[in-house]
Amino acid sequence: MKKEYMMETAIKNYEDVDSWKTVMFLYNSALKEVETKLHILNDEFQHVHQYNPIEHIKTRIKTPESIVKKLKRYHHETSIENMVNHINDIAGVRLICSFTSDIYHLAEMIGNQSDLHVESIKDYIKNPKESGYKSYHMLVSVPIYLSDHVVSAKVEIQIRTIAMDFWASLEHKIYYKFEGCAPEYISRDLQECAYMIAELDDKMLSINEAIQASAASGIDVNKDAIEDIAEHVIGNKRTQKKLQILRKAE
Ligand code: GTP
Ligand code: MG
Repeated sequence: MKKEYMMETAIKNYEDVDSWKTVMFLYNSALKEVETKLHILNDEFQHVHQYNPIEHIKTRIKTPESIVKKLKRYHHETSIENMVNHINDIAGVRLICSFTSDIYHLAEMIGNQSDLHVESIKDYIKNPKESGYKSYHMLVSVPIYLSDHVVSAKVEIQIRTIAMDFWASLEHKIYYKFEGCAPEYISRDLQECAYMIAELDDKMLSINEAIQASAASGIDVNKDAIEDIAEHVIGNKRTQKKLQILRKAE
């Protein structure tokens, strides 16, 4: 059995190598481990259900500038030790899915991986941020198997739909221009866009559910059958929503 170390101990094992390079090597390895796992889960799903829950995967390592900025924001001195202890998103993976339901499916599959440890979860889909931001965040630790020891490294996984990703990318760009101090009306408009995006996601999910329902019922997927079922599923959802709005207005 190889010895397992936490990241801060692992750095000391490589005393003769520049510790910044060691940290980057370890986080890059962690990203590769997680990315491979996700590709395998996606391929397995395709193999069993003829369907890909993941549209695409993006990975990134936080830049040195952002690391230093974040340490300052948290009132920590700039050091390798503080960086590995206090910054959880040095290694980041973004999973982009088609439908909201895929997000929870993937989160469950990730949670079931025996060698991944889920450290924490933030569900900004059930509880969106004030900005309107929606996404599902998982902080996991993954073992990296090296020549004579094992190191555990943290990776932040953000799971969101294409629509949520579209909003988050543009909102980030717009907000960046204002350096976090956007005028009130811009924030309000962005929140409204987030609401529209959520509607779009709901509609896409309803359409997909309608098609799935018709396939499951054994009905030929012809135009009339789809129309009937779509009317039933989507129509019902629309009526429910209208009722919700009316109830709220009461
Ligand atoms: P950070 O210190 O910013 O990492 O926040 P945190 O450690 O409390 O984590 P949180 O889960 O709130 O957010 C982490 C990441 O989610 C950020 O680095 C962004 O990638 C993303 N994020 C969070 N809030 C927003 C938002 O309002 N807009 C956009 N575009 N992205 C966001
Ligand atoms: Mg973060």
